[in-house]
Amino acid sequence: MQKILVARPIFPDVIERLEQYFEVDWNNGDVLSADEFARRLADKDGALTAGDPVGPAVLSAAPRLRVVANMAVGYNNFDMAAFNASNVLGTNTPDVLNESTADFGWALMMAAARRIAESEHWLRAGHWQKWAYDGFLGSDIHGSTLGVIGMGRIGQALARRARGFNMQVLYHNRSQVAPQIEAELNAQYVSKEELLRRADHVVLVLPYTKENHHTIGAAELALMKPTATLTNIARGGIVDDAALAEALRAKRIAAAGLDVYEGEPNLNPALLTVPNVVLAPHIASATEATRRAMANLAADNLIAALGEGPNAGRPANPINPEVLGKARV
Ligand code: GLV
Repeated sequence: MQKILVARPIFPDVIERLEQYFEVDWNNGDVLSADEFARRLADKDGALTAGDPVGPAVLSAAPRLRVVANMAVGYNNFDMAAFNASNVLGTNTPDVLNESTADFGWALMMAAARRIAESEHWLRAGHWQKWAYDGFLGSDIHGSTLGVIGMGRIGQALARRARGFNMQVLYHNRSQVAPQIEAELNAQYVSKEELLRRADHVVLVLPYTKENHHTIGAAELALMKPTATLTNIARGGIVDDAALAEALRAKRIAAAGLDVYEGEPNLNPALLTVPNVVLAPHIASATEATRRAMANLAADNLIAALGEGPNAGRPANPINPEVLGKARV
């Protein structure tokens, strides 16, 4: 039997599925240190990860390893140049999380705009004595302008929801999407700078790459309206969190909604000191149905890539399909 490492706690029935095909080494505890992760991977044929960094040192210490299945759509934890150099396949879990993640983007955006978390903290602290005409005034969502940066599958799901709120949709992306998608979403392609100047609510839905590091920093925040909100459901590192905390403190923008952070789970402490930000612990895809779908898809990819199951040799979500069928080096 081939051997696999499941690096994180995961639904036990998914482990049972994997055990039908493999000898499973399951870390059902704390996140493994880099050394322990590399040590447990050393004799494995495959692995199921969720954000664990996999680079050249890990791959060369695991000479049998042929596939790493990430239980996430983002795979910035994989050094794909190293995967390609070793002919190791990476897989991810696209599509199954689009709608849940888009729902959550709206939840954070609306909570930021309407000051839901901030007012709830105030209420719990016992400050509510009377109704006030100017209590927690926020900004409207309906009829406003949504700015989506990153118009991939999740960005499109997010933009589609804007129709019900009668919003104008601006977007910026590496490349313009097909005209029929623009028409369906009623979305207009603009430069990043124009989007930041015009949008009332900016939502980030782009993958993290070196080029996207600090896509939003002090200069970009300075372009935004003082009444605008910024929501990040993409990845830590896309926003300069120190610059954002300072912009929120100085009320250079009205509010922010964050699900992802630089260096998470350790947040920039300045973010904890500003009231006008809603902070969530990387849960945009966290519904029971969607997390189950992601776990099963990651398992399916692993099973197929290791030549087992009904789709043997044909994993559904290869990131680097060019290595399929090539001998490990
Ligand atoms: C979650 O962050 C994912 O990339 O799926």
